[in-house]
Amino acid sequence: MNSLKFKIKNHKSTIGVIGLGYVGLPLAIRFAEVGFKVIGFDIDERKVKMLNNGKSYIKHINEGDISGMGEQGFIATTDFEKISHVDAILICVPTPLGVHNEPDLSYVKSTLDLVKDHLREEQLLILESTTYPGTTAEEIVPFIERQGFKIGENFYIGYSPEREDPGNKNFSVQSIPKVVSGHTKNCLEVTRVLYDQIVDETVPVSSTQVAEMTKILENIHRAVNIGLVNELKMVADKMNIDINEVINAAATKPFGFTAYYPGPGLGGHCIPIDPFYLTWKAKEMGVNTRFIELAGEINSAMPSYVVSKVTDALNTVGKSISGSKILILGLAYKKNIDDVRESPSLELIELLLQKCARVDYSDPFISETHKTRKNDFKMKSIELNKDTINSYDLVLLATDHDDFDYNLIEKESKIIIDTRGRFQKSAKVLKA
Ligand SMILES: NC(=O)c1ccc[n+]([C@@H]2O[C@H](COP(=O)([O-])OP(=O)(O)OC[C@H]3O[C@@H](n4cnc5c(N)ncnc54)[C@H](O)[C@@H]3O)[C@@H](O)[C@H]2O)c1
Repeated sequence: MNSLKFKIKNHKSTIGVIGLGYVGLPLAIRFAEVGFKVIGFDIDERKVKMLNNGKSYIKHINEGDISGMGEQGFIATTDFEKISHVDAILICVPTPLGVHNEPDLSYVKSTLDLVKDHLREEQLLILESTTYPGTTAEEIVPFIERQGFKIGENFYIGYSPEREDPGNKNFSVQSIPKVVSGHTKNCLEVTRVLYDQIVDETVPVSSTQVAEMTKILENIHRAVNIGLVNELKMVADKMNIDINEVINAAATKPFGFTAYYPGPGLGGHCIPIDPFYLTWKAKEMGVNTRFIELAGEINSAMPSYVVSKVTDALNTVGKSISGSKILILGLAYKKNIDDVRESPSLELIELLLQKCARVDYSDPFISETHKTRKNDFKMKSIELNKDTINSYDLVLLATDHDDFDYNLIEKESKIIIDTRGRFQKSAKVLKA
């Protein structure tokens, strides 16, 4: 272990990042930035090719960062034999839900299968993907032990959850404190030494289970609080009160209150998914997670609530939803990014199409829709100008990208349904 620690401390070790997506890519960039040689592994040949050509496929990651990484010796590859060349293996692959909201660890398991023949002594393997408490100890440790290694003696296993917030310019990989854990004391020590090289603060915890549950708690905290404001939004609406004004007023309290904002539903790879990892595990223990289930119920009802507001708004001008032209603003699940995973905008489109509306969307960062697990709309983004906006019966603001020209939208729209509190309420602006 001492030689591995020495190599890491002197930035002489090679880092392997598996899964070069929203989490893995910034991590690889940060390790290269501080002078490590980094090898990036992915099964997606298109991404590997783009990275090796210095190109970025994520809007908020600059090409300069990719080419800078290349100058530090970074290569991307689909060849997992190269795992034998790395000292630390960081797994950042997806952990989605299955059809019955059960954890889908198939990407993690297939990664383990891909690396198993290329592992060697004195390597450190760390899972970064979000997962239920117990995954590292119950899935990864026995798998590595079956390959003949002694954990904590000649091979080290850690868990360190990613806290990436795509598009948030106030924080970087370096400035976000990183929770670190290890399967044994030695595993924790070497894991901590590794992350100490790239972040300002590491937060060691006593077990991989604690680290796994920390990440889940963070995401449950968001899901439950968003569920709360989404419920209060519906109450406030009945009372003709603007919920965003209420939240902003409450947020002036300097202690004991954190502002969460309502919206058209939860999106992204984390908040709608991760809490159910715990629900599933809790059921195994015979415990119900009612807060999680209730927040899930409220948040997943939001797209239908928004569509009911669309119906009401069209009714007031004597139109039915069937045949009406509706423009959805924003396809991404949150503002200023290009990620549509689990985006409520997709569900809004689906629900409106089911009601025979004629739906288009406009998103400055997503020029066309791609097939997802649930939808295949084959739509192209509409350019926003006076004539296009004016041609719709109703404009539905689903994602409040800063790049939208809100003055133009307000001036030219016939009716606006605002799910993000971006507009002032008026005769033609309704909140949903
Ligand atoms: N996106 C976020 O904001 C965020 C934040 C915190 C944590 N997380 C967690 O991080 C993990 C990764 O999420 P992401 O958003 O980066 O996903 P992503 O889909 O952007 O990236 C995952 C990458 O892994 C690759 N991949 C899939 N299977 C592979 C395999 N067997 N071997 C090598 N590569 C493989 C995919 O091709 C893809 O490039 C998830 O567990 C997620 O919950 C994500």
